[in-house]
Amino acid sequence: MLVLRVAAENHRQALIVLRHHHRIPTATTALVEEIGQRILVLASMASQPEHDGLIFFHAREITSLRSMHTTPEFRNCVIVRHPLVQHKLSILRDRHTPTKIFKELVDEIAMLMAYEATASLPLEEVDVATPLEVTKGWRVGGKKLTLVPILRAGLGMVEGILRLVPSARVGHIGLYRDHTTLQPVDYYFKIPGDVAERDFLVLDPMLATGGSAVSAITSLKRAGASRIRFLCLVASPEGVLRLLNEHPDVQILTAALDRELNESGYILPGLGDAGDRLFGTR
Ligand code: PRP
Ligand code: URA
Repeated sequence: MLVLRVAAENHRQALIVLRHHHRIPTATTALVEEIGQRILVLASMASQPEHDGLIFFHAREITSLRSMHTTPEFRNCVIVRHPLVQHKLSILRDRHTPTKIFKELVDEIAMLMAYEATASLPLEEVDVATPLEVTKGWRVGGKKLTLVPILRAGLGMVEGILRLVPSARVGHIGLYRDHTTLQPVDYYFKIPGDVAERDFLVLDPMLATGGSAVSAITSLKRAGASRIRFLCLVASPEGVLRLLNEHPDVQILTAALDRELNESGYILPGLGDAGDRLFGTR
């Protein structure tokens, strides 16, 4: 293990770059105590650079050690590298995958990603009467989570997430990308009331130029929303940076951060046109 850099990012965080090591060295525990409550560790396997990732580390709760999979350049973006997500995403990318399977996979990946996205939901203590005695239990507190799919393709992600969080509310934002200008054109906006205290998850499989995501999030903020995250399956570096620029408070969760956009604004390698593949309209 080689510690290349330690840089305090703010009062409570530090970045350590490690090579050839995926495990947290015990020495970092002391470092955490020295620097503060949290520490971010970038583990880099020289032979497998694609496995680079940031690992979240909490001094007081060693068991919460888990991979966040982000990089300093794209600090607003977390890549969910769960093996099932990556396996299913590869089938999704395959040009031969038929519409029916495509739809099922979008649904399943969204559900798996929602598991990550809901990891920080607040809990409140409750009494639970088992058949034998009353004990303490937990239930998710706060206002109901609100899912906001961007039409059309975001619709494919809703049901999977609702299976995990059936009480979630669902708003809708209608946008399409003009094929020549690539600018988003909005045609529908409907979200639940009581916006200020809700957590919003904006859903769209694709973050390409970022125009649609920026427009949807701007509309949500205009309506009073402030706690917004963006959940997608494939993101481009251009889209991630555009969101970082225009809505730096919005975290992106994605299953993949792809290489680039082509001249028509499609993500490479990507998976093609998500809406067309979901609804068989190509
Ligand atoms: C796709 C996709 C996003 C948008 C991403 O939708 O579902 O909403 O493009 O591109 P951007 O980041 O460059 O804005 P599209 O406009 O094709 O509409 P559709 O879902 O109705 O097919
Ligand atoms: N929208 C899509 O559906 N796919 C892309 O690659 C880019 C935008």
